[in-house]
Amino acid sequence: EKARAETDASAFRFKEPAAGVDERHHVAEGHDADILIRWGDPVLPGAPAFDPKSQSAEAQAGQFGYNNDFLGYIPLPGAADPSAHGLLVVNHEYTNEELMFPGIPPQHTKDVRFKDMTKALVDIEMMAHGGSVIEVRKVNGKWQVVPDSKYARRITAETEMEITGPAAGAERMKTSYDAEGRKVRGMLNNCAGGITPWGTWLTCEENFNGYFWGKADGHPEEAALKRYGVPGNSYNWGQHYDRFDLAKEPNESNRFGWVVEIDPLDPTSVPKKRTAMGRFKHEGAANIVNKDRRFVVYQGDDERFDYVYKFVTEGRVDPADRAANMDLLDRGTLHVARYDADGTGEWLPLVFGEGPLTAANGFASQADVVIEARRAADLLGATKMDRPEDVEANPQTDKVYVMLTNNARRKAEQVDAANPRANNEFGHIIEMLPEGGDHAARKFTWEILVKCGDPSIADVGATFSSATSKDGWFGMPDNCAIDSEGRLWVSTDGMSEKSTGRTDGLFALDTEGAARGTSKLFFRCPAGAELCGPMPTPDLTTFFVAVQHPGDDGKDWSAFGRISTFDDPATRWPDFQDGMPPRPSIVAITKRGGGKIAG
Ligand code: FEO
Ligand code: CA
Ligand code: CA
Ligand code: CA
Repeated sequence: EKARAETDASAFRFKEPAAGVDERHHVAEGHDADILIRWGDPVLPGAPAFDPKSQSAEAQAGQFGYNNDFLGYIPLPGAADPSAHGLLVVNHEYTNEELMFPGIPPQHTKDVRFKDMTKALVDIEMMAHGGSVIEVRKVNGKWQVVPDSKYARRITAETEMEITGPAAGAERMKTSYDAEGRKVRGMLNNCAGGITPWGTWLTCEENFNGYFWGKADGHPEEAALKRYGVPGNSYNWGQHYDRFDLAKEPNESNRFGWVVEIDPLDPTSVPKKRTAMGRFKHEGAANIVNKDRRFVVYQGDDERFDYVYKFVTEGRVDPADRAANMDLLDRGTLHVARYDADGTGEWLPLVFGEGPLTAANGFASQADVVIEARRAADLLGATKMDRPEDVEANPQTDKVYVMLTNNARRKAEQVDAANPRANNEFGHIIEMLPEGGDHAARKFTWEILVKCGDPSIADVGATFSSATSKDGWFGMPDNCAIDSEGRLWVSTDGMSEKSTGRTDGLFALDTEGAARGTSKLFFRCPAGAELCGPMPTPDLTTFFVAVQHPGDDGKDWSAFGRISTFDDPATRWPDFQDGMPPRPSIVAITKRGGGKIAG
């Protein structure tokens, strides 16, 4: 009876597909899930068609990049129907060599150590990183990429960017390429992001450490490097390019790990790394205009035992003057969260000269505070979390949702109220309420919305409502979206790797009333993929999702009982053609016959 009441109270109306693992994607009954654009499809005018057997850096520089993650939809100014014609901005987070290149085995193993990764292949990887801007339009109910759009743009690991905010011009930002510490080439490992109300794209550098090569031991910045896991040695770019070799270019890594702001309406605009927002492994930059019109950006630092942050601008958003908002993100206050056991909490400001953030602790300026934001947050006593991913505010309720993806390294003696499970393999979601509904306030209250995982296994300790079906539960929450009806959607990262018998997907999670904590599966990925970018159009007739790394084995290279590679992949989604590798792609989900999805 209780379960029925929870089901009836749900804000979502759709029939779940069955959870499971196979080579294809699956969507809730009555919906279509159509491929919009795939890795290698042309973006820039004149770019060649995808030919995976003779790919080149030059071709890739004009084509859709690899591993689409964040998606932002920006209605085109003046569009007759803002939910049928707009720009999609897309992050290309990283590359998987063994799935991209014929004949290349996994390169990260001890015996291989990138020996197959020639400069020509690294150059393709560098062009497959960054982001894409594409113009999209709905024609007869189906989305299409507008070819040769004047807005079409590729951002890569070589695109010149400006460094702005307190770290601009600092000694620790200077390199042989940039004696002023004010310009940098490329953005790396851009995971999630956000769209500002003035129509710019915030794109977030996450695991930037992986691109740096060498050793931290004995380096002049040894302690600072180690706090960020630099060098990560996840790629061998440093063997071919000095700037990624720590010994040759000691400051280059300080120029990554930032939030980048890009104006997609001006394809000639120079992207800006906004250093006031701090340097860490940024997951996302979802945001809200506060009631006093200051702009507040919520940010997770995705690392085990790292922190939840927010940035509050000094200036106010002017809805009538786009140009006046363009550099708002250069001035403001970065804060980090402390969650107290009584269900309250406090945002602690990271301001040079205040509290422990002084010369006595090695901070000579606000530049040092933002470059070493993690160490500053350590000194302030922030709460060490279970890998903070997306953090999004619901403008209808002012509640803020924090995705904590997992942390299997948390030991029993390290458990606290906000991270209550040891060996937290499946993650949890925290709901916060700022004091007085004021997103700039220092104080908040919080509670756990749900502990994730399979509710049928008592040891897991999951807390989904009893109306959640065997298909509807999830683990490893990563990205989320709050739709225009104030409903929460959660996408996941890591279920294929955990032998859960199910792939990642998109889940509808009730937050209000009797159905609170009820989860339903809406879209399911092909084998090996993670689901990113969930982005509904304003009118809710479309949900864009990003299927990332289809066919990926995961770190242990054994999830499919064999090594999944270009030549023998676990799936050839979405083309299913011999010789075609799996291709990260964007999918547009619509209701068959029209109308609101999940309505
Ligand atoms: Fe790239 Fe935190 O996920
Ligand atoms: Ca990812
Ligand atoms: Ca993510
Ligand atoms: Ca993730």
